[in-house]
Amino acid sequence: MSASPSNVVVANGITRQFGEGDTSVHALRGIDVCIPSGELTAVMGPSGSGKSTLMHILAGLDKPTAGSVHIAGTEITALGDTELTKLRRRHIGFIFQFFNLLPMLTARENVLLPLTIAGAKPGPGWFDELIGRVGLTDRLTHRPAELSGGQQQRVAIARALVSRPSVVFADEPTGNLDSTTSGEILALMRSSVEEYGQTTVMVTHDANAAAMADRVLFLADGQIVQELPRSSPRDILLAIEKLGIR
Ligand SMILES: Nc1ncnc2c1ncn2[C@@H]1O[C@H](COP(=O)(O)OP(=O)(O)OP(=O)(O)O)[C@@H](O)[C@H]1O
Ligand SMILES: [Mg+2]
Repeated sequence: MSASPSNVVVANGITRQFGEGDTSVHALRGIDVCIPSGELTAVMGPSGSGKSTLMHILAGLDKPTAGSVHIAGTEITALGDTELTKLRRRHIGFIFQFFNLLPMLTARENVLLPLTIAGAKPGPGWFDELIGRVGLTDRLTHRPAELSGGQQQRVAIARALVSRPSVVFADEPTGNLDSTTSGEILALMRSSVEEYGQTTVMVTHDANAAAMADRVLFLADGQIVQELPRSSPRDILLAIEKLGIR
């Protein structure tokens, strides 16, 4: 697998072992994966199969035990903290299941935080466009505690998108939301791919969510065991059943 410009992320031979000896856990057992530009990639698999571990390693939040990760052409696993922080700021957005907003900041301040830290400002019109797209125009002065779960996740999505990163990772972005709100958030994730060409990798347990993706990767026991192109919820459920990884 090569680091061609059409692949925003290229990972080779990723392993991740937690702990040593008898109690050690092999969370990832040799993952090769490329994330093509401008696509939505879904990652599915049973609890404990290594989905979050993989997201964290691809996003530079954790280091693999072995293997390499290229983000936008740069090998990140050997970077020092300062360089990695700079690269992450420029190239990576991350959306967590539990939002991870700063409680003392308003919605506006939370969204702008990645730019504020970098001493930057959004391009003209971009902040208003983005806030309109995520539907937060009349909520910008509220703090997270004054927002619903869906609104908090909208803030987190806008925060991930505001710096126009090369790739956004979302780890079960709807895992903490009711089904109606989940549908809205998923539509938003899809529209950021359509409208902004935002390369996105999303972990989900939901076949309907995965059916919105251009590609679905299935993880089991720390390995990628299957890959589907854009598929119907039915075909995704059938694949899960065949793999016996429910
Ligand atoms: N910090 C850690 N220390 C020890 N073991 C860990 C650590 N993080 C994850 N693991 C283990 O690695 C394996 C993979 O965990 P991971 O969180 O990646 O799974 P997951 O697919 O995201 O599961 P879920 O669907 O429940 O979120 C599990 O066996 C887990 O217990
Ligand atoms: Mg997880």
